[in-house]
Amino acid sequence: MPTAHDISIDPLETLDARFRAAIGAAFPELPPEGIETHIAPNRQPKLGDFQSNAAMPLAKKLGKNPREVAASVVEHLDLAGVAEPVTAEAIAGPGFINIRLLGDAMAASLTRLDTERLGVEPPERPMTVVVDLCGVNLAKQMHVGHLRSTVIGDAVARLYERLGHRVIRQNHVGDWGLPIAMVAQKLVELQQGGRDLANLSMDELNVLYRSAQAACKAEKAALALTMKVGGHPKAEAELALRIADAEESLERAKQRLVKLQSGDAESVAAWKRIYDITMGACLATCARLHANVTEAASAGESAYRDELAGVIDDLVTRGIAEEDGGALIVRVDGLKEPCIVRKSDGGYLYATTDLAAIRRRAGVLGAERIVYFVDARQSLHFRQVFGAAHRAGYDRTPAGEVAQLSHAVFGTILGEDNKPFKSRSGENVKLSDLIDEAIERAGRTVAEKNPGLSEADRAPIAEAVGIAALKYTDLSTERIKDYVFSFDRMLAFEGDTGPYLLYAVVRTRSIFRKAAEAGVDLDAVASAPLMLEEPAERTLALALLRYPGALRAAGESFEPSRLCAYVYSLAGAFSSFFDQCPVLIADTQAKKMSRLRLCSLTARVLTDGLETLGIPTVERM
Ligand code: ARG
Repeated sequence: MPTAHDISIDPLETLDARFRAAIGAAFPELPPEGIETHIAPNRQPKLGDFQSNAAMPLAKKLGKNPREVAASVVEHLDLAGVAEPVTAEAIAGPGFINIRLLGDAMAASLTRLDTERLGVEPPERPMTVVVDLCGVNLAKQMHVGHLRSTVIGDAVARLYERLGHRVIRQNHVGDWGLPIAMVAQKLVELQQGGRDLANLSMDELNVLYRSAQAACKAEKAALALTMKVGGHPKAEAELALRIADAEESLERAKQRLVKLQSGDAESVAAWKRIYDITMGACLATCARLHANVTEAASAGESAYRDELAGVIDDLVTRGIAEEDGGALIVRVDGLKEPCIVRKSDGGYLYATTDLAAIRRRAGVLGAERIVYFVDARQSLHFRQVFGAAHRAGYDRTPAGEVAQLSHAVFGTILGEDNKPFKSRSGENVKLSDLIDEAIERAGRTVAEKNPGLSEADRAPIAEAVGIAALKYTDLSTERIKDYVFSFDRMLAFEGDTGPYLLYAVVRTRSIFRKAAEAGVDLDAVASAPLMLEEPAERTLALALLRYPGALRAAGESFEPSRLCAYVYSLAGAFSSFFDQCPVLIADTQAKKMSRLRLCSLTARVLTDGLETLGIPTVERM
């Protein structure tokens, strides 16, 4: 007799276990790990809630007739306590096995889901997970490219927290090296010219960054070419002068870097100013995005500067790094290009810092999973670094376990012209401008839909709707895919959008206001017996039961889009239920209370799902 333990809240999991057992018993010759149950929502809801499509591939493997295979599976199948018994008649077409869940079993599972944690019990052994997200660079404005790393990274961090794991967010800020020294040099020069650096803004810093880059860029190739083809002597002389200037700027920046590295007070002060301005702006933008990236999460490249020499020493002593044309490299299995860990001029690289970071994250912080939300163009970098870290054993936790390292790549945000999203003048779009515009447009739509709202009431709603629109579009697109940025599409109140989902939550909550006005005893709703009779009630119940599984699947794949798809389908199931099943005017008191309990569960699961995605909800819209 199966016990409650054999029944997971998610019917897919329960059915998978029962079918696995049946297939194993019917065909003992199959290795248990190779059994696939192929259970999916039924394509013809009239025939059942779920179906197993396992018989066809199984028959092929065993060289048997699929209907006969299905019949033997059914013969060994025990669905007691879960679904209606399956008979040979339930086998359809070439061998689909149709399954209809028991209403009582669904109600019992829903009751188990109806806890504060909504059926998501903490794991027996919580993992430590490092989430590498945001990754801004000093002196550079956050632009649209940082949206995905921040928003998707934060959603995955929230997912793992929600599942009961320990999450450490790491904002691997690009805050060290020559480019920063170039800007620091500029700052020192400005200060020497009498400029008070206290009132330097992020915008100004961004301009300084670009001019520093330009000043150091020697147009050597252009000069060589002009010399060779023989340019005008005056043009040649002018070019030579510019190159000399650039080389001088570069030289000064290099000296500034040396000073910075040795702790020279003036240089460190300039660096600190750049750091404070950039991080102030970055963290403010993250806060507006409702992304949990704070000072505590900041572990930039500079945080590893004192560990780089040690990493190199270690790699050399243990024979993992080898010399190659003056540089030091680590060869990685399966990759043509090795991981360069030290340049021939003795300088360290982006990869060296990332190796030190892995060593700290696994070896000191104890991360069992480290996942990087960085765009797809860095995929070779991460393959090199992961390979080198593994060879060196830097991916081991203090318990000796090998951490799982993943580069969670994401696609590009495109403009209407299908090219990377830029402003009309061809510049990167500032993230804060994008947020402003989303909120402003949301405000206009909210005012249109609800003209009665006062300005003061409208502002927080506009903010929530704008942020939900922006984030939901980004999160609901499969991570790997590019998408076209469109305010009109993301702000629509219909379809798979943030505003639609916020609206769905508002609707579920408003029922309770009406119920209270009608004098319903709301405290009794929480323990009302659930009656799942109408098809729309069953569909809604099934959708609710899938919640814990949807969270787990999204977490395992680092794919918030799966949770988005879940939340959207739940909102759809609720909408049909609401159209088809009267709640406050149900025929009987028992039905009314059962339906109110379904509404309450839906409201809580939707709210929890959106909050886990990092999308705050509102009471009214
Ligand atoms: N600052 C880097 C960039 O702009 C992103 C950092 C990603 N994280 C890392 N551990 N490498 O490209």
